[in-house]
Amino acid sequence: MQAKSNQWNNNLAFLLAATGSAVGLGNIWGFPYKAGENGGGLFVLLYLFFVIVLGLPVFMAEVFIGKTGKGNPVSAIENLAVKSKSSKSWNLVGYAGILASLIIAGYYAVIAGLVVNYGFIAAAGFGVSDPSTVYAAEVANFWEMTFWFSAFLIASGIVVGYGIDQGIEKAMRILLPMLFVLVILMVGYGAVRGDMASALNYLFSWKADQFNAGTIQAAVGQAFFSLSIGMGTLMAFGSYMPKDQKLGNASVVVVTADTAVALFAGLAIFPLVFFFALDPTAGTELVFKTMTTAFSEMGPLGQFIGPLFYFLLAVAAFSSMISILEPSVVFLSEKFSISRVKATTFVVLFCFLLSLVSVAGFNVWKDISIGALDNPFEAMKYLADDFLLLLVGTGISVFVGWRLENTINSEVTGITNKGLLNLWVVVLKWISPISLLTIWALGNLQILFGISFF
Ligand code: TRP
Repeated sequence: MQAKSNQWNNNLAFLLAATGSAVGLGNIWGFPYKAGENGGGLFVLLYLFFVIVLGLPVFMAEVFIGKTGKGNPVSAIENLAVKSKSSKSWNLVGYAGILASLIIAGYYAVIAGLVVNYGFIAAAGFGVSDPSTVYAAEVANFWEMTFWFSAFLIASGIVVGYGIDQGIEKAMRILLPMLFVLVILMVGYGAVRGDMASALNYLFSWKADQFNAGTIQAAVGQAFFSLSIGMGTLMAFGSYMPKDQKLGNASVVVVTADTAVALFAGLAIFPLVFFFALDPTAGTELVFKTMTTAFSEMGPLGQFIGPLFYFLLAVAAFSSMISILEPSVVFLSEKFSISRVKATTFVVLFCFLLSLVSVAGFNVWKDISIGALDNPFEAMKYLADDFLLLLVGTGISVFVGWRLENTINSEVTGITNKGLLNLWVVVLKWISPISLLTIWALGNLQILFGISFF
């Protein structure tokens, strides 16, 4: 994926890079804690529903823009706007995506840094310390958190700066299967040692009382976030796709893999949550406290599996982080004709500042709420995941459905069934924009202003 070649040389590269992007903190850290915060069952079922009904179609639409528009998230849209005689202002969708990517990078690096930190804690052994005390001590330390996120950010920046062409493919070939195996092993551990029955009941039962706009918005936001939709990653990766690769088939593979990892993560974590009588609604700290409780219970085995778990989670976060930085880096370097290294330096510096704000949300600014949102970290997360991603997703749907309809064919998509192809267009034209905007409006009214209709 270097600026020179602008093309991957085989079909597997897109699959590996896109899966590497999709599978990340969103699956293993985000999905379980959001499921817990939103009461379990209903959230999970809504999430699965939205992955299929809105996630997959919009995922394909974003890849479509990259593949046919050939360029960075802004220029790909501009190229297609010119071709379809549409207004150039459609590029706002690209700009909004880049804005979202920077905000996400700002808080993502912080959680990833915490993961790396936990890898070392796990390797040293937990001893007799209580996981809650360990967690509280870690996040209270502004400078230590800053150290870890900076290390993570700089390492990702180095890879992005020099081009993620060959490296990511080779790394993902080995690490993705390892991650899958480890997560499945953890599910096995949960089944044997934990309370799997309660977990299944918690995750998959219909809970009508949780049905409100906030839960629905959180489920769509999580579906989009986990699939890396809505900030240009998929446009960038789509533009490196070989000409003959079919985007429909490729998208189904990535979406399936991503969803499977999220579900497995839930099935690994919740049996332990219930077995150790931990609080499923703990929020962002859930994975750190629960998993460390489990690892310390495992004894010597835990001292081996613990660091391995955090290592693989850090790797998953790393390939996602790279894909979060990529869109703004290609955009900057092409727009201002500067080198990739220079563009990366600017982007990393900017993210560094945002990450400082997000770290402060854990300690020094912990009690500074922004409107209805608890602290700056929560505010950044909400603004990116639940606010911007849905808007950009709407923009992508409308642009592809209404302006590029004529250029959609079975050649690019690989969908030979006419009915299916039409269904995709109908979803993009009507179903996706109408439902996304409704969910967005009602969700914001409830979360930001406390106004709810049901
Ligand atoms: N999907 C990744 C995760 O689950 C995060 C991510 C990478 C992302 N690229 C993105 C999220 C683009 C939204 C948009 O951790």
